[in-house]
Amino acid sequence: MGFSREVRSAAETIRAAESVSVISHIDADGISSEAILRVAITRAGIPVTSHFVRQLEPLTMKTVPEDDSLKVFVDLGAGQQNLLEERGLDPEEVLILDHHVSQPCEVPYRQVNGVPHGFNRLSAAGIAYFVARELDSGNIDLAKVAIVGNVGDMMARETLGLVGPAAEIVQDGVAHGSVRLVRQDLNCYGTSTRPIHVCLSYNDDPRIPGITNDVRGAERLLERVGVSPKTRDGRYRVWEELEQDEKKAITSALVQQLLANGGEGVDRLFSESYIFVDEAERSPLRNASEFATLLNACGRWAKPRIGSSVCCGNRGQVYREAEYMLNNHRTIIRELLQYILETGVTELSHLQYLHVGDRYPDTIIGIGAGMALGKLNWRKPILIMCTLPEDPTLTKVSMRTNEWSVRRGVDLQAVLTTASGEYGGGGGGHPIAAGAFIPREAEEVFVSRVNELLRDQLA
Ligand code: C5P
Repeated sequence: MGFSREVRSAAETIRAAESVSVISHIDADGISSEAILRVAITRAGIPVTSHFVRQLEPLTMKTVPEDDSLKVFVDLGAGQQNLLEERGLDPEEVLILDHHVSQPCEVPYRQVNGVPHGFNRLSAAGIAYFVARELDSGNIDLAKVAIVGNVGDMMARETLGLVGPAAEIVQDGVAHGSVRLVRQDLNCYGTSTRPIHVCLSYNDDPRIPGITNDVRGAERLLERVGVSPKTRDGRYRVWEELEQDEKKAITSALVQQLLANGGEGVDRLFSESYIFVDEAERSPLRNASEFATLLNACGRWAKPRIGSSVCCGNRGQVYREAEYMLNNHRTIIRELLQYILETGVTELSHLQYLHVGDRYPDTIIGIGAGMALGKLNWRKPILIMCTLPEDPTLTKVSMRTNEWSVRRGVDLQAVLTTASGEYGGGGGGHPIAAGAFIPREAEEVFVSRVNELLRDQLA
């Protein structure tokens, strides 16, 4: 069946349901997927309940209600069909909307997944969106939320913009009027909320000598090109509010700086960005990547419903709670970053690693490691471990690298899937960011195995 037919069939399945249970993941893609489905299904007049899980595994299967509802698994399920089968779920009561690689299963569960059709850059929120649009063409107001999910799941990162069916969602958002597409924007995080020099100095894709990790260097660059970092009333300006000629002056200087240092990364200086014109200027909801961080902050601190509610347009008390989650998230990540830098990492030939014990929750260690990488030896992927208070026999592992390594052949998802599988654990993710659970007793051998696999990938 073609992708469009899968989408149509999924919409028909939902339309025919008496009631629906959505089971989704707690990250930005999972939260936005759930929000899209909940809104679209509610608009179709069908009762719907939602359930969030960190991973779909034997322990979390109890979250799946035992009732007559249609169970829609979104952003998960494709790789865990054996669990659905073990639970005795009938194919008639299951619909999977996922973008992870599917596992073989005896029971023919219905599924919409871009991967078998070659759409490798369409996240679950994108699939949920197409199903929602099929339910009612009026649902194109949800394109914005789908863009957040796709960007949050790094679908735009390598290609410097959303491509394939995900680009069609951007077009819908533009047609709806809620999305402004900037085709050649600065490829930098924080363009709607961070002071320009901070924004520039935090960026390491591409790494710009004299700017990356150097706030003073970034300030000097602004001075040199005559762009004032502040408004007349003394407030720091953000990238988004600069005049075109000011943006041009800065990017020209950045290009020169890169060229003067060998030119690597010039091609990554620009990317598409997605601005949400109906959101307040300088708010974390103003662009797709910052919106995605807010959702991740909610999800990773066990409040996915707050994020979902913000996706659905709630801007009252719920939004203030989401902002609180975001600020808290940032504070703890800063602490974690500091902890990593002060404690230091152990370097192997192809890897650097550390163990943070029980100091930080497993849901955020990867984020801290990703931020630390730019300040450590950024040429070597970083692996971070922590213990799980709820299960002392298990260790959570997160790995992060950068585009530079990925271009040279590093694929962390492959490394962690292989290595964790060999020791009876399990993992997954993306080439640039992946995670796994392993038996605690295997930590040491596991780390050297990961080092070995990285060496093989770079051979
Ligand atoms: O947990 P962490 O932030 O390190 O996860 C990075 C990526 O790896 C995410 O996309 C997550 O869904 C994926 N992951 C996975 N299996 C795990 C842990 C993480 O697929 N056991």
